[in-house]
Amino acid sequence: MSGGARPRHFLDIRDHAPETLRAILDDAKAMKAARAGLPKGAPDPEPALPGHALAMIFEKPSTRTRVSFDIGMRQMGGHALLLNGAEMQLGRGETVADTARVLSRYVDAVMIRTTSHANLMELAEHSSVPVVNGLTDDSHPCQIMADILTFEEKRGPVAGRKLTWTGDGNNVATSFIEAATLFGFELVLACPETLSPSPRALAFAAERGAKVRVERDAERAVEGADAVIADTWFSMGDDPSARESRHNQLAPYQVTARLMEGAAPGAIFLHCLPAHRGEEATAEVMDGPQSAIFDEAENRLHVQKAILKWCLGV
Ligand code: CP
Ligand code: NVA
Repeated sequence: MSGGARPRHFLDIRDHAPETLRAILDDAKAMKAARAGLPKGAPDPEPALPGHALAMIFEKPSTRTRVSFDIGMRQMGGHALLLNGAEMQLGRGETVADTARVLSRYVDAVMIRTTSHANLMELAEHSSVPVVNGLTDDSHPCQIMADILTFEEKRGPVAGRKLTWTGDGNNVATSFIEAATLFGFELVLACPETLSPSPRALAFAAERGAKVRVERDAERAVEGADAVIADTWFSMGDDPSARESRHNQLAPYQVTARLMEGAAPGAIFLHCLPAHRGEEATAEVMDGPQSAIFDEAENRLHVQKAILKWCLGV
């Protein structure tokens, strides 16, 4: 971007001070409470972004991210435009930088779900309006903000608590590692050696003295955990030929009712969804009394509204 102040992007959890993340969560909680009982399509009692437009670029499929950003913008008095990356000139070779410069002339903020984290960074570099990360191959920060909101609604303040990740050390795991570092909770990641979390994310946590560690044994990892978290064993963009081998490696990490018994009393089960029932978690766990997965999905809406408000300085 040339000239002017740098816009407030929301690209990764690690970019932000704990106070900023906490203020966003507080705002999300307040906005959620303020619209209790209203129809979902009704505007907020005090719409925060009247007249604002959000461009949403999707280079990968989505249900939750797409609907929650769209409805969230409407509730705040603005609106969202859905752009399929493959149908944009971006898909025919227009540069990310030029796309950023052009969109900045039409809309007030851009949300992108992209195949490559480098695309997100390039878009942000050349955009004069805020850019929000709606998932990349590296990270999924909006998801983890919703997960922390959900945890705190169910189990109280997250600082000092123990959360356990099971399965693939993927993009969502990276954002969890960053969140553990900034929100001050213990995170144990139970992953096979071949699917360990990002060394960069682990180094970020280690440099800051965070209580983040990788464990090979799922039963040991969940001992005393206040939340057990799973994600798909096969993320968007993963090599299809590796599907069977990944399943074999990840089978010992499936979240079952028995595994949940080893967690703390009252522990919750989280999953960003979409899920593959009977793979990373059993249907019994997903539909059981400890599952908070649909509150978690709903909280994407509330937290992303607060993220957009923060980005736009409202
Ligand atoms: N959790 C999540 O980001 O869901 P979608 O892929 O449906 O947007
Ligand atoms: N790890 C998953 C998350 C989907 C929301 C993926 O990247 O496909």
